[in-house]
Amino acid sequence: MLLFEPYRINANLQLENRIVMPPVVTRLATSEGHVTEKLIERYLMYADGGAGFVITEAVSVKEQKSGQLLRLNSDTFVPGLKALTQRVHDLTPCKIAPQIIHFMKIARSGYRQKVEDLTIEEINGIPRLFAEAAARAREAGFDAVELHYAHAYTMASFLSRHNHRKDDYGGTLKKRLRLAEEVLIATRKAVGDDFVIGARINGDEFTLGGNTPAQSKPIALRLAELGLDYISVSAGGRFEDAVPRPGEALDPYTGYSGHRTMPPSWMDEKVNVHLAAEIKAVLNQSGYTLPVITTGRIPDAQTASGILDKNQADLIGIARPILCDPYWPTKYKENREKDVLKCIYCNECREAEGAFQEVICARWKKKDGSIVPPTR
Ligand SMILES: Cc1cc2nc3c(=O)[nH]c(=O)nc-3n(C[C@H](O)[C@H](O)[C@H](O)COP(=O)(O)O)c2cc1C
Ligand code: SF4
Repeated sequence: MLLFEPYRINANLQLENRIVMPPVVTRLATSEGHVTEKLIERYLMYADGGAGFVITEAVSVKEQKSGQLLRLNSDTFVPGLKALTQRVHDLTPCKIAPQIIHFMKIARSGYRQKVEDLTIEEINGIPRLFAEAAARAREAGFDAVELHYAHAYTMASFLSRHNHRKDDYGGTLKKRLRLAEEVLIATRKAVGDDFVIGARINGDEFTLGGNTPAQSKPIALRLAELGLDYISVSAGGRFEDAVPRPGEALDPYTGYSGHRTMPPSWMDEKVNVHLAAEIKAVLNQSGYTLPVITTGRIPDAQTASGILDKNQADLIGIARPILCDPYWPTKYKENREKDVLKCIYCNECREAEGAFQEVICARWKKKDGSIVPPTR
């Protein structure tokens, strides 16, 4: 199976196989954004489970309250993250990268900061925040860095057709791309040419008036032209169609767009694969060979393999099924499908994450008074 064959992203980064554990917030960091022993154990488990590449949960580039989310906005975060990468590398051949994120303010009162609210000084500071965080990631021993250009957050919001800024950072696609270009260029300068920089984008926002492949294809092309090393194609997760809940901050994963990010059981399997396939086709037609990752309701190795065989993507993101059973890759590789604890796409993990609770799978079993994940 191609899924278990190695894949080289660049001269410095070879993956053991084509299985990627995409970012999944754990809520296991401290409230100040530091690594904990429990968080290290969680990532060690994903790495030990056999995935070729683990991308961490979103890691904030900004000094901002973020609720048990990792941070990289100062050097104080480097030693903890170094301990994480060292232990992953000592124990496994798995490669690991942080997903770095910038997000805007949001409050229970219903207030939500939008790209139109940012001053030009604030915008001008964003590339430096990403670049410095990426340099720290390299120092901490990560194998790559992923720019979070998807879902509800700042970078995706600049790229979006919902960006109605009247200056050079909004309106036309060329202007909406400007900040994404600046961030990538600054990050490249900070980490050097040999370090892998990936980006996660939305193939489609699934909102009325939002981006569709008509926008995501030229976005991917431009990022490839600027030397991006891989592109991870996600979908949705936008505030524009979120369902307001009284007394709670607006949650971008509550509407249809949000459901497309983490497709629930009532959606089809492989529901977002066509987005990656379209982007990959247009990149390849233009001579770019950077790997494209597809993710979303890909339940088993046979389905994942079928996507690779059809050349719809180069790498396969398996998020909730690996949260459910971290040994998903190893068990499929060893033809032990019967031993896999299967994700039922109930999204209880996502509910926990939204409620700032430790993210575990609802299918994990009780043992000796605690809830434990499946073992090898
Ligand atoms: C609890 C939870 C947290 C997530 N956190 C992130 C995140 O920090 N960044 C991100 O880009 N995607 C995040 N995702 C989305 C996943 O990376 C993935 O794209 C999505 O779950 C669909 O893949 P799957 O069907 O294999 O689970 C999260 C998903 C879940 C369930
Ligand atoms: S809680 Fe539900 S959706 Fe989340 S990993 Fe477990 S089975 Fe899958």
